[in-house]
Amino acid sequence: MLDAPEMGDAEYDRLFRELQRLEAERPDLKAPDSPTHRVGAEPAQQFRKHRHAVPMLSLANAFSEQDLADWEERNARIVAEVTSASYTLEIKIDGAAVSLTYADGVLAVGATRGNGIEGEDVTANLRTVLDLPLRLQGRAWSSLMEVRGEVYFPKSRFAQLNREREARGEPPFANPRNAAAGSLRQLDSRITRDRGLRIFCFHIEVPDGDAPFRTQHDLLQGLRAWGFPVEPHHREARDLADANRHIAVLERMLDGLDYEADGVVVKVNRLALHAELGTVGDREPRWAIARKFAPEIAVTRLLEIRINVGRTGALNPYAVLEPVEVTGVTVSNATLHNFDLIEAKDIRAGDWVEVTRAGEVIPQVLGPVRDRPRGKKKFERPRRCPVCHATVEQPADEVMAYCPNVSCPGRVLEGIVHFASRGAMDIRGLGYERVRALLDAGLIKDVADLYDRKQLDAMKLLTLEGFAEKSAAQLMAAVEASKDRPLSTVLFALGIRHVGAQVARLLARQFGTLAALTNATSEAIGAVHGIGPAIADAVAHFLSEPRNRRLIARLEKLGVKLKEPVSAEGGLLAGQTYVITGTLPSLSRTRATALIEEAGGHVASSVSKSTTAVVAGTDPGSKLDRARALGVAVIDEAELLRRVTGKP
Ligand code: IVH
Repeated sequence: MLDAPEMGDAEYDRLFRELQRLEAERPDLKAPDSPTHRVGAEPAQQFRKHRHAVPMLSLANAFSEQDLADWEERNARIVAEVTSASYTLEIKIDGAAVSLTYADGVLAVGATRGNGIEGEDVTANLRTVLDLPLRLQGRAWSSLMEVRGEVYFPKSRFAQLNREREARGEPPFANPRNAAAGSLRQLDSRITRDRGLRIFCFHIEVPDGDAPFRTQHDLLQGLRAWGFPVEPHHREARDLADANRHIAVLERMLDGLDYEADGVVVKVNRLALHAELGTVGDREPRWAIARKFAPEIAVTRLLEIRINVGRTGALNPYAVLEPVEVTGVTVSNATLHNFDLIEAKDIRAGDWVEVTRAGEVIPQVLGPVRDRPRGKKKFERPRRCPVCHATVEQPADEVMAYCPNVSCPGRVLEGIVHFASRGAMDIRGLGYERVRALLDAGLIKDVADLYDRKQLDAMKLLTLEGFAEKSAAQLMAAVEASKDRPLSTVLFALGIRHVGAQVARLLARQFGTLAALTNATSEAIGAVHGIGPAIADAVAHFLSEPRNRRLIARLEKLGVKLKEPVSAEGGLLAGQTYVITGTLPSLSRTRATALIEEAGGHVASSVSKSTTAVVAGTDPGSKLDRARALGVAVIDEAELLRRVTGKP
């Protein structure tokens, strides 16, 4: 109908204006599906709330074939038939979710998702979405139903929209999804109309009954027959293996579509099984899951360049980003490494940038992409420390710039946070906020003060905001417990330049006590296998400084053990090799490694056939897949603890 008009434009315009005039005279007679709604209505003051008759759910994610297999297995435990049932695959549109209430076949209310229970009534805006039917065609629709769909903004129009916005001095949208959501929530629906939003529909809820279809596939065809736009690439799959084959084909197609698509939704085909499978809380259905293809590189907007002062004084520039998903994780900050790099790549606040997760963990900005919006200022490296205003230094042979002030509050804060962190002394409950509070209250000035009961005790903690009797006692107990950490942990925790966990272990094993290490020359330290001259110099220099010597002497006097337990040559895990992946429930990586090594075992970074076992926690990486492929044993933290202690 839209592309084969039944009358000429001029004739249409005349009739349209006539209708507008009549409706202005008799608003009570204006039909809810009148084409004049497409023009947009007078600005609204604010949106009315709309309670969804049936909650709008979200979807669980699957990032691999394994995740999908697990999903099917979980479902099979509830409804055995799912293993022999077929699936429907649909492109997952990344726009703004809406619910459309049709009463007797006429669009009555259109609402945003909101919190899933209650959204905003944006009916006037949705009526301007040209491909949304205001009145349904065909038959067999229920007299009251909610149709669910996704409003999107075509990619092809996106660059143009942003150019127009910038010309008017308005902030550009970060991506088509934000453009869709923003356009939908315009108080003036004439603006929404001019944006040119589109919609795809994929779901029906009938509050007091069932949709008149047998399968999800039939439902999509039904939606089409009633006049709804349905994403055309959906298809049925016989079983999960068949689904995986089709998913691979669809995945390759996603980038080429004119709408943002962030995965494939896999749905159990038979609608009768949906009711049986039910939902997980009021959150997500069990009968559907989103198969996502975690992008390794994402594009987003760099909002601001900020600088963090590290414990060594290094000035670490980082980007505050418009949040974006990279390898399945939402990233809103990313490192910019150093000032030289920012200048070499000419990265500026306001740029579109490519973001990736280095080694799948630390988010980093790769560099700017696309046309730079006009008027963005070139980055200027600071000449003074952003925290203490000392003059910044940059050693000639280094890429990093430093705050040279050892008492810079930024450095002190970072140093203590590092000391207490999970990989170091592992003092539970002592994170950024609390260290900051302790420093601000003058209860501590350095890490030794943590152990000094003249400085800090539970009573004093109680004077701080956020502490109650229990939390104060817990923190003090955690501080006490950390006194027993081995020398390797303390060395790492002290934050000596170039001394990471691995170097700290080599030093501790070689020297045994901090006294022995302190008495060693730089040459003797450099003679340790695996330790180069630069590290040796840094360690010797650190240990020769009077300030650091005083700190260490105080730590010792206050009861911190500065010894490395002698590693068991014939220990329980002698000759065994372990690989750790994911986050363990209670042990940090460093602690788990130390425990294995203290028992005479070895920790490797990659899995091979000779690996004894992989210790897996939550969010394990590819090491787990490799262990499974090689048939290497996979154990959890509890089993590891049994093995290192020898207790059943
Ligand atoms: S089914 C109970 N199918 O993705 C129905 N959702 O992350 C659950 N979405 O809020 C949704 N395309 O707005 C479904 N073909 C599709 C979809 C789709 C996009 C959106 C939807 C939902 C979100 C969940």
